[in-house]
Amino acid sequence: MLKTLLKQIGQYRWAAILTPIFILLEVLLDVFIPYVTAWLIDLGINAGNMDNVLRYGGLMLVMAFLSLAMGILAGRFVAYASTGFAANLRKAMYRNIQRFAFSDIDKYSTSGLVTRMTTDVSNLQNAFQMILRVSIRAPFSMLSSIVMCFVISGRMSLIFIIAAVVLAVVLTLVIRRVSETFARVFKQYDVMNGAIQENVSAIRVVKAFVREDYENQKFELAARGLYQLYVKAESLMAITHPAMNLVVYGCIIAISWFGAQLVVGGELTTGQLTSLFTYVMSIFMSLMMLSMIFVQITMSAASGKRVAEVINEVPDIVNPADADTNIPDGSIDLNHVSFAYKGGSGEYALHDIDLHIASGETIGIIGGTGSGKSSLINLISRLYDVSRGTVQVGGKDVRTLDLDSLRGNVSVVLQKNVLFSGTILDNLRWGNTEATEDECREACRIACADEFIEQMPDGYQTRIEQGGTNVSGGQRQRLCIARALLKRPLVLILDDSTSACDNATDARIRQQLCDDVPQMTRIIIAQRISSLKDCDRILVLDNGRMSGWDTHEGLLKTNTIYQEICAIQDEDGGDFDAPQGRKEDAQ
Ligand SMILES: Nc1ncnc2c1ncn2[C@@H]1O[C@H](COP(=O)(O)OP(=O)(O)O)[C@@H](O)[C@H]1O
Ligand SMILES: [Mg+2]
Repeated sequence: MLKTLLKQIGQYRWAAILTPIFILLEVLLDVFIPYVTAWLIDLGINAGNMDNVLRYGGLMLVMAFLSLAMGILAGRFVAYASTGFAANLRKAMYRNIQRFAFSDIDKYSTSGLVTRMTTDVSNLQNAFQMILRVSIRAPFSMLSSIVMCFVISGRMSLIFIIAAVVLAVVLTLVIRRVSETFARVFKQYDVMNGAIQENVSAIRVVKAFVREDYENQKFELAARGLYQLYVKAESLMAITHPAMNLVVYGCIIAISWFGAQLVVGGELTTGQLTSLFTYVMSIFMSLMMLSMIFVQITMSAASGKRVAEVINEVPDIVNPADADTNIPDGSIDLNHVSFAYKGGSGEYALHDIDLHIASGETIGIIGGTGSGKSSLINLISRLYDVSRGTVQVGGKDVRTLDLDSLRGNVSVVLQKNVLFSGTILDNLRWGNTEATEDECREACRIACADEFIEQMPDGYQTRIEQGGTNVSGGQRQRLCIARALLKRPLVLILDDSTSACDNATDARIRQQLCDDVPQMTRIIIAQRISSLKDCDRILVLDNGRMSGWDTHEGLLKTNTIYQEICAIQDEDGGDFDAPQGRKEDAQ
């Protein structure tokens, strides 16, 4: 983990190295200033020697300015190093997430990835900054102050050595408890971020179902948990300050008491006594800083693990070596395919599917929710890999094909498809950045999207909000179909992609796909028999198994499930619009 993280310091390495160097110089200067103060008092003021006063005073001034300059430089480099480190971490994570397969995203969850990219990275940034600043300064200034104290007076030094040990014990005890609490704080952060993410991204559903009160309570619970943990951690931390004050002032009193006797006895000068005070303060400050850094490191260790995990994750699906970019046609073969989701219940979502689709055919798939329709088509564009059997596109195993070529040629309109913020034209060109405006218009015509786009005030330049929230469900579906068509794929897969369109539009889209791009293999998942009955063949899926695989007429004769669906839809006049419109939002 540490290696992964350190590697991300990258081009900011020099800043990370310069920081401690400048800090070291600053500390050295700081350590010698009290020593010079002692000379100033003893050789200058007490001896009544004005030359010495000026000499040592001037020296102190120069040293103070130098130390200031070093401090400023160190501060600047530490900022470079720590923010650069955070930026690199985010970049590395982001880059790897782009390579993630669907199964990897399932593993981490979207809100989990967001927390890792934000809160966890900030933690690491703070820890890194603190380490650069303090881990050199504190031990060094502590050690050198101790050395200086012993140089001045060995006997007096014993006083604060004992005090420092007492303080160290107290701090260790407190910190142990605090880090335990902080470890729980971060788990609670995950819970709260999860609640926020889920709620905010589904705010429309929340409002539609009037669940605001419930959601408020859920959030309140998560936020209160965080509050209580923080209060607990902070009140524990609060003990450290009075404890430290007690020890420091106790020490000062003891040093004054014994010091005064030594000064009277002539074993110690007043100047030396004054600098002793300064060194003692600096020793305790360093001790305090060391304890803080310890808390910070334990706090960020968990974050470090979470960040490194994402950076090092090997995506489940990667481009094969010497990948084949040539896909001759749009034929699809599934040879005895079984498939189970890795993180799922362990049960197969698909059992022994054996399908052979010729290039240019139109195939329908029907089946209840959870019967495995989406899982099946996700295997074709290799969004997931099969557990058993093989999937072939154009006669070649998808695991040997170049991922970009495969996904360029197998265009899927996913069930949960989204639009991005930007104009309609931007969104369409997502499928194919080189598409001309005419090509975009043509795709929209086939997908029946032209009619509503032309009615919009800005036409193709109309802005789509993030997630496509300012167009209706049916409009969004039609834009997604147009976008998929622009890739000019060999295979087009529509996963329930016209569920929010009315029957007439649905029929028109299907007709135009047949007429205008006849060579393309089409796979249409739908809930309505009317959407499918003209397909060359229809697959009936039941609980992940092939229940029927025939034409509409054939299935009507032989397949009981298909007969039942037909019977129900005939009663309803075949209009399934209302329940489907809602279903789309709920998923
Ligand atoms: N990402 C996933 N992780 C684990 N299980 C999943 C995932 N997606 C779907 N499933 C499960 O696989 C089965 C088939 O789902 P799916 O293919 O989406 O069905 P359909 O599209 O026919 O409604 C269901 O039991 C579902 O719970
Ligand atoms: Mg589905």
